[in-house]
Amino acid sequence: MTTVHEPATRAAELSVWPASTAESPHGDLAVGGVPLAEIAERFGTPVYVLDEAEVRDRCRTYRDAFPDAEVLYAAKAFLCRAMAHWTAEEGLGLDVCSAGELELAVTTGFPAERIVLHGNAKSPRDLETALRLGVGRVVIDSPSEIARLAAAVGPQGHQKVMVRVVPGIGAGGHDKIRTGTEDQKFGLSIRDGYAQHAITRILDQPQLRLTGLHCHLGSQITSVKPYLVAVRRMVGLMSRLYEQHGLVLPELDLGGGHGIAYRPGEEALDLTALARRVRAELADACATAGLPVPRLIIEPGRAIAGPAGVALYRVLSVKHTGDRVFVAVDGGMSDNPRPALYGVRYAPRLVGRRSTAAPAPVTVVGRHCEAGDVLAAGVELPGDVHPGDLLAVPVAGAYHLSMASGYNLVGRPPVAAVREGLARLLVRRESLEDIRGRDVGL
Ligand SMILES: Cc1ncc(COP(=O)(O)O)c(C=O)c1O
Repeated sequence: MTTVHEPATRAAELSVWPASTAESPHGDLAVGGVPLAEIAERFGTPVYVLDEAEVRDRCRTYRDAFPDAEVLYAAKAFLCRAMAHWTAEEGLGLDVCSAGELELAVTTGFPAERIVLHGNAKSPRDLETALRLGVGRVVIDSPSEIARLAAAVGPQGHQKVMVRVVPGIGAGGHDKIRTGTEDQKFGLSIRDGYAQHAITRILDQPQLRLTGLHCHLGSQITSVKPYLVAVRRMVGLMSRLYEQHGLVLPELDLGGGHGIAYRPGEEALDLTALARRVRAELADACATAGLPVPRLIIEPGRAIAGPAGVALYRVLSVKHTGDRVFVAVDGGMSDNPRPALYGVRYAPRLVGRRSTAAPAPVTVVGRHCEAGDVLAAGVELPGDVHPGDLLAVPVAGAYHLSMASGYNLVGRPPVAAVREGLARLLVRRESLEDIRGRDVGL
């Protein structure tokens, strides 16, 4: 909200925006050197803006913080050819969970051997594509997958695999994104012995080469502690595997889940502390167990893509109902299902003009036929916000478009990259032709 605020407040407000964000004298914001109003003009709204330098810087921050580890970008957060290209160029690997993500990445030039295939229920096409393209590792996540994969690899072939285990740790920003406990669909339980049993079966399959263990605790985790507990539990299992099978596993994948701030003042996971403390915990746990330290693998998604993205909407209506004000925009749950799914909150901001009106509490809602189509409840916007205004929502780069839907057939928004004052189209708007193209029957 661009009313006349103290510089400190304005800086705080921009703390969750891409680092390149700059305010112009007449109240607009520029990201990557490109005014958001110009982007709205050129690409229409809703439109997603992706700051290339922010993505690259975040990749580099990870590589600097974890110099000895393998850093995989979790493609599920947001994937397009440019994201595959940038993360490959920055030396990251890639975590994919479908043939679709895998094909897009490899056909964009992402080296297949640097890709890891995940999935609690991999389809025959996922496995066939993984083997055909030569994916680096497949993470086994169900007992039945072992025989299927071994058969698909064939007696002459070989495939590196890891096993996803459940470390029994509850962590994550919402029930629906907690994946380290026994009562959810991912992973094989250590507590009930399913993990150990699966590992024994894998060791009987000569074409499957077990390189390590994997766990993913959940998403939007802002404390280092759960990762330290996970290290202990994983090394504990590795130690038992050594005693039982003489097995020394060279890799340990701790997944992703690194929490970020969506609104100014919110907590984010301290990456430097995570790197330092996980490294120390791993070294100590391995020394105690008498095991060599495995190579660490991590899989950040949200923390790389999230802060680099900004969603830009046009206000379509402002409605006063009782003592509430609803500001409806031309997007909503079809491009950002997170508020409806997890009740998360954002800090939208008026851009494109400066307002001297006093701030007023409003609810920013989408245009979809769903009362739950709320983008941001109880936020402050200038009291004179009106139809035609532009609203920008920062921290929109992850789990928005990747989870977008075709609800109400409004079409998924385009993505424009910004860098050094230039904007270019990465993904075009989904058109009625695209939608009709699939609708073949009468
Ligand atoms: C196996 C795995 N790795 C990594 C991630 C990325 O998590 P985040 O985007 O929270 O870093 C996920 C997210 O669901 C996941 O399931």
